[in-house]
Parts: sequence; C-alpha cells; structure tokens
Amino acid sequence: MTAPLAKTLFSEVAEGGRWPLNSGSPSLLSLPLPPSPESRMFSAVLGLFSQDVAVDLGTARTRVHQRGLGLVCDQATLLSVQTDVRGRRSVVAIGDDALPMLGRTPQDHEVVAPIAGGRITDFEACEALLLQLIREIHGRNRWMRPRMVVAVPHGATPMETRAIRDSCESAGAREVQLVPRPVAAAVGAELPVECAAGHLVVDIGAGITEVSVVALHGVVSGCVVPGGSGGLDASLAKWLGRERALLVGSETARRLKETLGSADVEAEPATGEARGRCLRAGVPRSVAITRREIAQALTPGITPIADAIRRTLEQAPPELASDIVDNGMVLVGGGAVLDGLDRTLSHATGLAVVVADDPALAVARGVGRMLDEPDLLAQVATA
Ligand SMILES: Nc1ncnc2c1ncn2[C@@H]1O[C@H](COP(=O)(O)OP(=O)(O)OP(=O)(O)O)[C@@H](O)[C@H]1O
Ligand SMILES: [Mg+2]
Repeated sequence: MTAPLAKTLFSEVAEGGRWPLNSGSPSLLSLPLPPSPESRMFSAVLGLFSQDVAVDLGTARTRVHQRGLGLVCDQATLLSVQTDVRGRRSVVAIGDDALPMLGRTPQDHEVVAPIAGGRITDFEACEALLLQLIREIHGRNRWMRPRMVVAVPHGATPMETRAIRDSCESAGAREVQLVPRPVAAAVGAELPVECAAGHLVVDIGAGITEVSVVALHGVVSGCVVPGGSGGLDASLAKWLGRERALLVGSETARRLKETLGSADVEAEPATGEARGRCLRAGVPRSVAITRREIAQALTPGITPIADAIRRTLEQAPPELASDIVDNGMVLVGGGAVLDGLDRTLSHATGLAVVVADDPALAVARGVGRMLDEPDLLAQVATA
C-alpha cells in the first residue's frame, strides 16, 4: 500500500467519509498522548471507563475479546477500499462486509488483506481495520482508550513488534502488551503453561502453521510451516487443474475443503461437486470429486506439517521431548478441524493428538484470559 493511501484512508475514516460507523469526529489517530504528568493522569482516568480488549490478528480472521464480555468480534481480516477520480481513497467496508467483494471489485475498488502468512504486511490498512473494530466495540465514544493485549507470532522481529505497537496506539490504545501467539494458544487450549513440563502446540491457521513447544510461560522451541490451511486450498486447486482440467478460485477450493475435505485418504467415501472453468474448452463446468480424492490432493500440504512436528521433537531438549511423548500434541487454529487431520498426524508422528475445543478461537480465548489474569499476563508478555 502506498503512503498516500495511508493518509487518505485514515482521513476519510476520520472524517466520516464513507464508513457507516463514523461519527464525523476527529480521528483517534490525532490524539497521541504526550508524556506529561497531566496526560498520564488523563490517560489513567480514561482507562477507568475503557473496555480493555485482547486481539488475535489472523490472516483470515481477526478476533477481539473484551474484558467481562468475552468474544465480541470475529471478522474477516479485510478492508474494501475505493479510489475516487481525484485519487483519494476511502474505506468502503471492513471485515465480513468486505468478504463478498473479494475477486468481484470494479477497477476503482480493491480488497486489501493486511495480513499474509500470519504476519502484518500492510500496517496502514491494519491500523485502519483496528481503528474501526475498536470504534465498533466502543460505540461512537472516541474518548475510550483501551488497554490492548495482542498475540504476535513467535520470532517476530523488533521492527515488527514496534510496528504492531504503533498500529494499536494509533488505533486508540493507551497501553499495548504483546504476547507470543503459541503461548496464548496454549492458554486458550487450557494447557498448564506455568509448568516446567513441555507441551506441543500446533496452530494451523489460514496463512501459517506454527509448531511450538511451550513450557514455563514461554516458547522453548518450534518451527513454522508457511501456507497454513490456506496452502491446502492451493494444493486442492492445483490438483483440480492437473487431474480434472478445472480452474477454480481459492474461495471455491476453500469451501470444498471445509465442506467435503479430509486429510485421511481412507476417509468414508462421499462425493461432492467442484465448479470452475474448463481449462480445455474455456467454459464453466462442474465435476464430481470424492472425499478420498480431496485427501490425496491435500496430502502435499499436510506432509510438511508432520515433518515440522518430527523436526521440532528432534530439536527439543531431551527432557522436553520425553514430556511431549507423554503429553502428545494439541491442535489449534481453524485448520485443525479438517476431518481426519488428528488421525493422520498421529499416524505420521507416533504422538497422541487432541484437537482443542473450538480450535479457531484458542488464541483469542488465551489472550482474553490474560486480560483477566494480570499475573499470568505479566509472566507471558514480551518486553
Ligand atoms: N471445517 C473446516 N475444515 C477445514 N479447514 C477449515 C474448516 N473451517 C475452517 N478451516 C480453515 O481454517 C483456516 C482459518 O483458521 P484461523 O481462523 O485459525 O486462521 P487465522 O488465525 O486467521 O490465520 P493465521 O493464524 O494463519 O494468521 C482457513 O484456512 C479455513 O479454510
Ligand atoms: Mg491464527
């Protein structure tokens, strides 16, 4: 995203240009707190009224947990942006409202995904998204300046963490605390993160799979597989092109994976339909596909996850490796609900596998719990 977009995006948002939730008030972005004693006191007073929030900024979905209320937002991590004839850009829709516009925008529109591969790639758009979500949660009260707890990828660089902090502060946060995502996931999956015994957490998100050993409130070791469950969509689309000469979009592949997909090549037989464009005749066509065929198509995306788990186990200190052999692994993230994935990973690694309850929400639940438990937050938060 270009620098002018950032400026115009925010000024449009701030001026109430096109965003339906706008009150026409000045941007929160224009309210930096100078470090004077008066402003610290002012901030403390505002804090008494603000509703603190915990955020899981995911490639596909952004979830916000509000203290005392639980999950208050689960929206697509997307913004739809329009450019007018003078080159001024404005936010037309965010979150799930922007979802139907994906792949369907006219020339003056674009749908922006600020996070790719689990990491923020467009900070300006991310800031605009956070600003709107916070406003939505706090109603139109621009004086609310919440404390924000945000889950960040393990191994985020100082530049990335600085940029995340800046985005949150610009979106109105009076205080920002960052916690490693794998630890938040482990807390959300109700693992005893305070114990010295290691636990293996595998977070299969839309853009990234993080395999982590968590112990004593921190990440001891781990590795990352690029692609996440979104990579499986790409594997399926590729298979349909190769085996059925059918060109399908990523949304079609995702829906097929979610409704009929399996990781188990011996899954119960079932047949569905894939719709796309015939690569030979160039016309729309639909073809039959079975669940077992989908499992074959997904295998190239699942094998690297099993390899990463084995590698993590090999690289972990021997004591922790033996803990993991005893405890098995916990799957979290939306990709964990793929039929047969637990069986397939268990077979490939020899470890017991448990899928967390409501796995897509594990990170949001974990950061949410930290809002309520300051001691836990103090142990987990990164500097
Ligand atoms: N029933 C299902 N079967 C298979 N996959 C599913 C199912 N439901 C959701 N998913 C996949 O889960 C993924 C979304 O998971 P999640 O919400 O954890 O991602 P995220 O947190 O936004 O991304 P990331 O953590 O990688 O930044 C999507 O790729 C989606 O297709
Ligand atoms: Mg995630």
